[in-house]
Amino acid sequence: MSTTQTSKIEIIKAPTSKINEVDFENLSFGSVFTDHLFECDFKNGEWQKPVIKPYAPFLLDPSTRVFHYGQAIFEGMKAYKDDNNDIWLFRPDENYKRFNTSAVRMAMPEVPEEVFMNGLNQLLQLDEAWVKKGKGNSMYIRPFMIATGTGVIANPSDDYKFMIILSPVSAYYSGDVKVLIAEHFSRAANGGIGAAKAAGNYAAQFYPTNLANKEGFQQVIWTDDATHTKLEEAGTMNVFFRINDTLLTAPVSERILDGVTRKTLIDLAKSEGINVDVRPVLVSELVEASKNGTLKEIFGAGTAAVVSPISGFSYQDVYYELPKLENPIALQLKDKLTNIQNKLAEDTFGWTV
Ligand code: COI
Repeated sequence: MSTTQTSKIEIIKAPTSKINEVDFENLSFGSVFTDHLFECDFKNGEWQKPVIKPYAPFLLDPSTRVFHYGQAIFEGMKAYKDDNNDIWLFRPDENYKRFNTSAVRMAMPEVPEEVFMNGLNQLLQLDEAWVKKGKGNSMYIRPFMIATGTGVIANPSDDYKFMIILSPVSAYYSGDVKVLIAEHFSRAANGGIGAAKAAGNYAAQFYPTNLANKEGFQQVIWTDDATHTKLEEAGTMNVFFRINDTLLTAPVSERILDGVTRKTLIDLAKSEGINVDVRPVLVSELVEASKNGTLKEIFGAGTAAVVSPISGFSYQDVYYELPKLENPIALQLKDKLTNIQNKLAEDTFGWTV
């Protein structure tokens, strides 16, 4: 279909809204969805006419390729409403680019920018009443693509469905997060799909995370697959370590996702005069720093939680507790970032759109 045709979105409005049934004071992350969704199918080698329609389940043949071979990718992004009722996206170009990087790695078609961005903007406009103002409130946006071709032959599908769904969320409190440093399991390997936001990357974490949960840890810090000596990610997030007054985080690689919150925190910290060192971080130096008292903080960074402070870690059956700080850098950065996102502070970086 030509560009002019994919730019016109058919809009089918829901006859009634579910918004009055929702308790916005008690939202559990990612469990409530707005009235509409955006959908665009890829068939016969091209993107078809996009549509916004009422949010509803849909039917798929049992042999649909995504069920058998996991050809599926997604993104996580957020929108915010300011005091003038304007809606702002945070660095949407970064999510768009990463979505297509993931698509290429998973042998899926790239989504045209106008399909992604126009679809997102019009969907947000239609469901704008669901975007709540105020610090911590946001609309979690989940663009995703699945292989919809049928037949269990292990080849890439010919057909795909790209969708965007919206889920209102409030401030995320992760509680006391204790982590287990992975000594056997890995999240990703060189040459694998760790840098893609592929659905299977997340499914593969569930089993080792369940084992960690049984031992009393909420998350796993993933280490490199070859040697298990380098610290890579925490749960579904990138991870930062503070030794003395320097923030350390691993460089992005084939194994480590190029997180939007990660790169934002690096820039934000540098602009605050905080020393940031992007380099491989060793398990041994973390243990050493904990023993000699120079390890001050560990925190995860991702779209959903923004910043998730970690209270301690276990390695080789020894538990290392982190100090309880008055004014941790993790929470200072989180506050600065959410103020920019919620338009409560000036965005001198040009991140909000
Ligand atoms: C994120 O926070 O960036 C995520 O991808 C979390 C999602 C898996 C719920």
